[in-house]
Amino acid sequence: MNYLKEQDNSLETVCDIPVGTGKMTDILLKFNLKVTSGDISEEMMQFIDLEFREHPNYMEEKVIDASSLPYPDNSFDLLVNIRLIHKVDPSTRIKILEEAHRVAKSYYIVSFGVDSLWQKIRMKLKSRDPSPGREKKKQIKKEIESVGFEIIKERSVLPIFSNEVIFLLKKNY
Ligand SMILES: C[S@@+](CC[C@H](N)C(=O)[O-])C[C@H]1O[C@@H](n2cnc3c(N)ncnc32)[C@H](O)[C@@H]1O
Repeated sequence: MNYLKEQDNSLETVCDIPVGTGKMTDILLKFNLKVTSGDISEEMMQFIDLEFREHPNYMEEKVIDASSLPYPDNSFDLLVNIRLIHKVDPSTRIKILEEAHRVAKSYYIVSFGVDSLWQKIRMKLKSRDPSPGREKKKQIKKEIESVGFEIIKERSVLPIFSNEVIFLLKKNY
């Protein structure tokens, strides 16, 4: 977010989906952005309402499916999807990316589960099944570009311990 604010100081509105327990919404409010949030879980929405409703820059929350957003085109300067896409199947993933492109006016921050040899070994050692939505970086980049975004920056969250990579994207059409 520091990087994005340096690049574009005119950002005002952001939509955070899925909001979960509100970790990202909390960060976004600290950057003085007007935040709207959503999650498919109704229970989360009740918690989020109690947590943020007094904040002057907090707009509203809604029960929302990220693959079918209830907002018109170009509604928010920035759309944020953290820790969602690696949980869904490939066709839902494309729908989520297309909806983000439709509803975001300029920028999109999204995290993916990236498939790599090291993460395969790590999952094997932990006897855990990989998440269904993990993908190779090449495929992720292809999908990002095919829906109309360009990659501005990418960062691994915890390179050795996690397969999560966060991308900052900009609409290019
Ligand atoms: C791991 S949490 C991430 C929350 C938050 N972004 C964070 O990083 O702390 C995953 C959330 O995704 C929500 N979720 C799952 N499928 C969804 C969908 N299709 N649309 C919106 N939210 C969804 C769940 O209810 C859950 O709150």
